[in-house]
Amino acid sequence: MADDMISLDYGFCTPAVLGEQHGLELAEFEQRVRRAQQWMGGLRQEGKLGFLDLPSQDQSDLAPIMEQAERLRGLADTLVVLGIGGSALGTTAVDMALAGTLRNVAPRPEGAMRVLVADNPEPRSFGQLLDGLDLQRTAFNVISKSGSTAETMSQFLVVRELLEQKLGAEQAVARLVFTTDPELGNLRLIARDEPVACLEVPRNVGGRYSVLSAVGLLPLACAGHDLGELLAGAAEMTQRVLRPGLADNLAAVFAALCVGYSERGRNVLVMMPYASDLFGLAQWFAQLWAESLGKARSLDGELVHRGQTPVAAVGTTDQHSQLQLYMEGPQDKLVVFILPEDYQRVITIPRRYQQIESLAYLGGQTLCRLAQAEAAATAAALAGGGRPSMTLRLPAVNARCLGQVLLMLEAATVIAGGMLGVDPLDQPGVEMSKRLTYGLMGRRGFEDERRQMEGFAAAPRFVV
Ligand code: PA5
Repeated sequence: MADDMISLDYGFCTPAVLGEQHGLELAEFEQRVRRAQQWMGGLRQEGKLGFLDLPSQDQSDLAPIMEQAERLRGLADTLVVLGIGGSALGTTAVDMALAGTLRNVAPRPEGAMRVLVADNPEPRSFGQLLDGLDLQRTAFNVISKSGSTAETMSQFLVVRELLEQKLGAEQAVARLVFTTDPELGNLRLIARDEPVACLEVPRNVGGRYSVLSAVGLLPLACAGHDLGELLAGAAEMTQRVLRPGLADNLAAVFAALCVGYSERGRNVLVMMPYASDLFGLAQWFAQLWAESLGKARSLDGELVHRGQTPVAAVGTTDQHSQLQLYMEGPQDKLVVFILPEDYQRVITIPRRYQQIESLAYLGGQTLCRLAQAEAAATAAALAGGGRPSMTLRLPAVNARCLGQVLLMLEAATVIAGGMLGVDPLDQPGVEMSKRLTYGLMGRRGFEDERRQMEGFAAAPRFVV
């Protein structure tokens, strides 16, 4: 295996370790995985899996993104992303992983912009964010594929007004970039009248699969990350996830084990990176897995209510929070650890208080060794109780490995959709909540939804 390739260790899912009752024989899933892959191949031929083409974007594809990044860097030192769900989580995942949890507190490297993702329009936090901005030095990337999501559009209207009040109409427009559908939606309508720069979300790339499109790439370029390495990593993984069967295909193995265990009552999938900086990745994955696989109806229209609940956790922090439940609670979980092999930072624990025996063993060891020992001990303790886990190993937390991880998990989600017989590309439940919000907020054309909401409001209330 190449030194810079991620790997998936699933030894702690096998009958050899967990016994017959809790272990899974991967080979049992070979035929089912192959059928799901054939179905996925069909989707690809129909042009529905645009995310698989994103890694092969070349310089000319990236030119409009780089041009905007360059322009914004000349104009501002802070970029605020206005977007939600798939329009926000991928950027946070990669930026947090590469620049750290404290990225917006600690100084960024020369020329790199601070990127703030405002994915919640609730007034307290959004207001606080706006209060703290120097608008002269701030640009805004409004990201909405549909151009109609109430949260993002409301935030945009607030910001648009504020910019014009403080800087005038021309400067307001200069500080905006829209990332949206190639032709449709409110942002395109606005951009017809006002000269706002626009980038495209390809039609065949859904929100939660869009991190490697302009959705993620513009903010990540503004933050100074290496898009070439990110895409190169994703391209390396694309080759592997398209291999038929389970052999050497991380996405297929991941999907088979998750689906296999979900069908044996393990309805909770915990993603637990042993690095705080990778918590955003676990949150990105939680959306991808939940929104793609949590479906009422099968592909044949039958009522099935499928899905596996993803939980984002972080090691070692959650060893002292959720782990007790994972160890001894219901046998309903599969845990995926993400373990960097190189934390790219060495902190050696000083040899102090050597006379205290219960402290002396730590002296001279590194914090990297401690994190890895904690992860290994947790996996072993779970396995001892018949509780399965996999470990996704990252040679390093860099753009290349992240590209591999993102693409692998996206492909795994589609394969899992095929195995479960649900559509991993739609989100009817999310759309329903969007429509009810439109109704309640008085949008024309959503009168039925308004009446539905009034019906709920008129129901007897039970409040203590
Ligand atoms: O994955 C999805 O499709 C959703 O999470 C969307 O990204 C989210 O609802 C935001 O939609 P939009 O980009 O259209 O504003």
